[in-house]
Amino acid sequence: MNTFKKDVLLGLSESPRWLPCKYLYDAKGSDLFEKICDTDDYYVTRADLEIHEHQISEIAQLIGPNAHLIEFGSGSGIKTELLLSSLRAPRAYTPIEISKTALDASVTQLRQRFKSLEVQPLQADYTEDIDPSHLTLEPSAQRRVIYFPGSTIGNFTHDQARAFLARMRKMAGSGGLIFVGVDLIKPVNKLLLAYDDKAGITAEFNKNLLQRIQTELNGRLDLSAFEHESRFNHELQRVEMHLVAQRSTRIEVDDHVFEFDRGESIHTESSHKYSIEDFQTLAKDSGLNPMRFWLDGHAQFSMHCLEPV
Ligand code: AVJ
Repeated sequence: MNTFKKDVLLGLSESPRWLPCKYLYDAKGSDLFEKICDTDDYYVTRADLEIHEHQISEIAQLIGPNAHLIEFGSGSGIKTELLLSSLRAPRAYTPIEISKTALDASVTQLRQRFKSLEVQPLQADYTEDIDPSHLTLEPSAQRRVIYFPGSTIGNFTHDQARAFLARMRKMAGSGGLIFVGVDLIKPVNKLLLAYDDKAGITAEFNKNLLQRIQTELNGRLDLSAFEHESRFNHELQRVEMHLVAQRSTRIEVDDHVFEFDRGESIHTESSHKYSIEDFQTLAKDSGLNPMRFWLDGHAQFSMHCLEPV
């Protein structure tokens, strides 16, 4: 059985029902996410970019010359280009990305833009262990720098984030540095709007998951019976996306039948929000020393520089 089907059958059987957020990001979902980034309501994009624009020379200074830059995710376009063009004589750049299409596209673009840069892409799932031999350079770099902008770390629970940071620490090695973007706690109405934009793109992004169940798994379901909702979970300090049944309805996959009462939801994604202090504590718990952090002008978003202790 394919893993998408296995995960759907599993998640819809549990209570509360849930689906892994990675399934939101198929080609159509990734496209919709790009469109979310362009909405005013999703403040994350512009706050993150502002930090890059204002602080890039200090960041490049900290990194120094001859560094091996390793990005988790395929080059996020403008931010990666900004960083690469600010670094002094970078030794090499390695984007780690699971989607071959996304990886190829970004590598082609970066090779064109930075003709003399050694680009060594790695097609892999950066949430899983990576064979260190894939990251060795001959001759070696001055240091490894792991770069993880955006706020994708927010998808992880605190336990998962600690484990993830510990793996980044191992990958960076001694003398290495880690740069990670972290979205900050802010008034709930602002958070909810960011995950339920007025143009309805996030709603479409979330409902694309139901469409995938329909088309890829031959699922029988009534798309119009579900509505997108963003919720703030105060206890776990996170925004959650849900698909909420507006009336009693059912989803059928093969001979499995999932009955929904009105108001019952499927939890599809979490975005954890941090205070600076809470994130630094998380980093310390993972064997990392928080060296520096930067904020945008409205203190909405943060970029942290961490070093292995
Ligand atoms: C891609 C995980 C950074 O959580 O802010 C945005 C995903 N989902 N709107 C986030 C997302 C709905 C986004 N990350």
